[in-house]
This record gives sequence, structure tokens and C-alpha cells, in this order.
Amino acid sequence: MFLVLEGLDGAGTTTQTERLCAALRDRGGEVLETREPTDGPVGRIIREVLRGDDRAPTVETLPWLFAADRADHLTRKVEPALKRGSYVVSDRYYHSSLAYQSLTLPLEQVAALNAFRSPHLTFFVDVPVEECLRRITKRGGELEIYERKDKLERIAAAYERVLALVEQRGETVIRIDGTQSPAQVHKAILAAVP
Ligand code: TYD
Repeated sequence: MFLVLEGLDGAGTTTQTERLCAALRDRGGEVLETREPTDGPVGRIIREVLRGDDRAPTVETLPWLFAADRADHLTRKVEPALKRGSYVVSDRYYHSSLAYQSLTLPLEQVAALNAFRSPHLTFFVDVPVEECLRRITKRGGELEIYERKDKLERIAAAYERVLALVEQRGETVIRIDGTQSPAQVHKAILAAVP
């Protein structure tokens, strides 16, 4: 079973991925805990772009870089794990590309680059932009290119279009109220995993 967690920066998908994987491991059985961008060769280049490094490729290359990273991720990790009968839980997948990269490339073009296998279940951890910004600021450290109010507002609107699109093509998306406590969010997610 292939599970995906999605949401804006600051929504808490990383914490929830960790918690979900721990709970699934407790049930017994193998769990691949993973994320995109990956720690692989393409993912490393992507992180340089996200940090706004001058020597990195321009942001215009991101739709292709994320798609390349995803192809690599599927081949190296996701497909073999699914074949072994493992749970795969990914912190972000192509829904992120459809939402974030549609800021610079038309959605149909981003979708065409992302004709990859669909997850069995996607959780959208829903947190308002204002709250995401509060959490990002509180976390401290350098801001990445998308971690700004104007960008996050556009990405939030894009996610709405993307979730409607994937639901139309038969995917299951479960929206979780991400403003609850981390424990409550976790409980809601776990309760929906078959
Ligand atoms: P994030 O999950 O925030 O990683 P980290 O916690 O290590 O910073 O992901 C990094 C950023 O990449 C985030 O702003 C979302 C963005 N992103 C895309 O723009 N497109 C994609 O396809 C993916 C997977 C992520």
C-alpha cells in the first residue's frame, strides 16, 4: 500500500510521516519511510535550487528536476518496496509538483511530466497559510523560495485545483484538519489507513 502525505510548507507532513510510519511498524510488517525531494543525486540539486543558491539551476528547471527525482525515487525505492509487500509512506509526491510547479508552468504541462503510478491513499494536511507562516517563522533558519506569504497563498489555491483534479481521475484524497494537535492529526490519519 502506497500512502502519501501532502500539504503546504509548515503543515506538518514530516512529523506526521514519522508518526504514521512508527504506528504502522508497531502493527508489524515492513514500512518504507521516504520523502520527496529525495536524498538522491537529483534531490540534492533540487535542495540547492530551493535554497536560492546562485550556482544551482534556475527555478524554471524545477518541474523537470522534480519529475526526474520522482522517476529515480520510484525505480530505486518505491517500486521494489511495494513489490515486497511493504507499506510505502512518502512525505510529498506528485501532488506537490502539480501545486508548486504550476506557479511557473501550466498545470497540464506539469501533469504530463507526472504520469507516474498513483498512490492508494493521499492525506492532505490542511493548515491555513497564516498558521503555516507562523510555524515556519518559529522554526527559524533560512527560508526556502516557496516559504513566503504570496507564494503560499498561490500554492494553497493551486492545491485545491489539484486535489479536485486527482479525485476526478479516481484517486482517494483524505483531508485532515492540520490545526489540531500533532497527536490528534496522527490519530485521524491512522484511523483512515486500512
Ligand atoms: P519539504 O517537504 O519542505 O522539505 P524540507 O522539510 O526538507 O525543506 O520540501 C521542500 C520543498 O519542495 C517544499 O517547499 C515543497 C517543494 N516541492 C515542490 O515544489 N515540488 C515537488 O514536487 C515536491 C516533492 C516538493
